[in-house]
Amino acid sequence: MDAIACISSRKSIRAFRPEPLPRELLQEIFDIARWSPSYKNTQPWEVVVLSGEKKAALSREVQRLFQDGAPPTPDLDEPQTWPPAEAARIAQLYQSRAQATGIDLADPKVIKKAKMANFAFYGAPHAVYLFQDASLSLWSLFDLGLFAQSLMLAAHARGVATVPQAFTTDYADQIKQFLGIPAGKRLVLGLSLGYADTTAPINALSTARMPVDEFVRWLS
Ligand SMILES: Cc1cc2nc3c(=O)[nH]c(=O)nc-3n(C[C@H](O)[C@H](O)[C@H](O)COP(=O)(O)O)c2cc1C
Repeated sequence: MDAIACISSRKSIRAFRPEPLPRELLQEIFDIARWSPSYKNTQPWEVVVLSGEKKAALSREVQRLFQDGAPPTPDLDEPQTWPPAEAARIAQLYQSRAQATGIDLADPKVIKKAKMANFAFYGAPHAVYLFQDASLSLWSLFDLGLFAQSLMLAAHARGVATVPQAFTTDYADQIKQFLGIPAGKRLVLGLSLGYADTTAPINALSTARMPVDEFVRWLS
């Protein structure tokens, strides 16, 4: 698969087959992702990969916190408001997701179910958490975003599905404690990783993008 096909055919997968990936394949995916660029080559990424019982135990713990109504402790706040253009795109995403899957994320009752599915890593055999030192600037957050994309593309090129998940960082304090990660690190993103369940209706969802002329201004 060339780079263009890889970028344009990657999509978020939200139902996985349970079988774990071979360790060598996981290793290879990170070995590719590490070639991401970063500000002054600081490489501000620290990664935890959870599998097997460790992943299941963390998933249970976070689901329990959520069910008990524990206040979330994210290191990056969930946005409460959006500018009109971005808000319209979110509405469009929810609409296409409701049409494709019957899951209407604008419905607060559905959000609870959706969060529980996120906390279960959508049935994936591996959960990946991305951390960096909390003292790092916004540039490093940017670098970690580039790394996350490299990771998803490397996985996709090897036939491995992913979904980036802000929701899985809701209980950052408790997750860091569970994983033995110092409080001085910030938890930026969680991802599920594994083979896609191609029979699951939710994986039929394909999202749209705005055309180039909507976001590029050509000046000469
Ligand atoms: C930073 C970030 C956080 C996201 N958080 C979640 C999440 O918590 N749960 C989820 O199901 N999808 C999440 N997504 C996936 C987006 O909904 C998805 O990337 C977007 O709708 C475009 O779809 P595509 O990835 O299939 O191209 C997240 C994506 C990004 C980049």
